[in-house]
Amino acid sequence: LMMKVFLTRRLPQEAATLLSQAEVCDVSLWDSDEPVPRAELLKGVKGAHGIVCLLSDKIDVEVLDAAGPNLKVISTLSVGFDHMAMDEIKKRGIRVGYTPDVLTDATAELTVALLLATARRLPEGVEQVKNGGWSSWKPLWLCGYGLSGSTVGVIGLGRIGLGIARRLKGFGVKRLLYSGRTAKPHAAEVDGEFVTLDTLVAESDFVVVSCSLTPATQGMCDKAFFSKMKKTAIFVNSSRGSVVNQEDLYQALSSGQIAAAGLDVTTPEPLPTDHPLLTLKNCVVLPHIGSATYSTRGVMAELCARNLLGGLQGTDMPSELTS
Ligand code: GLV
Ligand code: GLV
Repeated sequence: LMMKVFLTRRLPQEAATLLSQAEVCDVSLWDSDEPVPRAELLKGVKGAHGIVCLLSDKIDVEVLDAAGPNLKVISTLSVGFDHMAMDEIKKRGIRVGYTPDVLTDATAELTVALLLATARRLPEGVEQVKNGGWSSWKPLWLCGYGLSGSTVGVIGLGRIGLGIARRLKGFGVKRLLYSGRTAKPHAAEVDGEFVTLDTLVAESDFVVVSCSLTPATQGMCDKAFFSKMKKTAIFVNSSRGSVVNQEDLYQALSSGQIAAAGLDVTTPEPLPTDHPLLTLKNCVVLPHIGSATYSTRGVMAELCARNLLGGLQGTDMPSELTS
């Protein structure tokens, strides 16, 4: 008897190949590059033994109920898992696969690129070249902030946070601060100083958010947070949009409370094109592309498929979420 699997999106070829070769499952998918409508998701998962989802699919009690008692495994093409009702999933004995490690380098690179683009005002410069705003070389035109000699604060020194810190150290950063629930032994590699969130926010020239979204971090970057930052400081977020109170960020940016912000994640996603943040020159917004390199997405897809197969067959999953 073939097990039933529902994929919420077309995936890179690596996943399709693995799943068809395994011959243990009967795959149906939302055959599109656009998100599956909720009603189609609820219909598609009916009777499924396995679900492959993306971070844009909310896997809540309703979806679990729609799937029913066959469901053994959910495999997400992401390192983040805040889109899934983990307590309920665990209670039902459903295993969960995710894709840590394989996207660490790509995401750390993108975060550094975003930080530099924001601090050195690259999008503004590109725009000026195109629209005729470039009239001559000028002493203070398009000046920004550099990393050399600076203090960087990383909120959440996990795998990705460490990857960011390692790369930034290469730019001559003087002090590397980090905050989180606990001090991390691997911080020694980047001479990271474990400090309170308040200290990090107050002393950093660059505040980089790289923590996961939890009830404790939801809305963490709010009015009080931004008001403690230096006026010349840059805020960068490549974790989850909901860590930030976007109205408070808008106020901080438009009033000059902080210098600039670079965001790879927002709420909602996509951010509506008429959103106030998009009217600001000192806010650089990217469409959640942290892990978007061809090779990384291919390896993620393969890992995601292997996690699914392990869960279906009751064997080891290469990256099982156990916490
Ligand atoms: C991206 O945000 C991911 O969670 O993989
Ligand atoms: C976890 O989210 C990480 O940093 O890889």
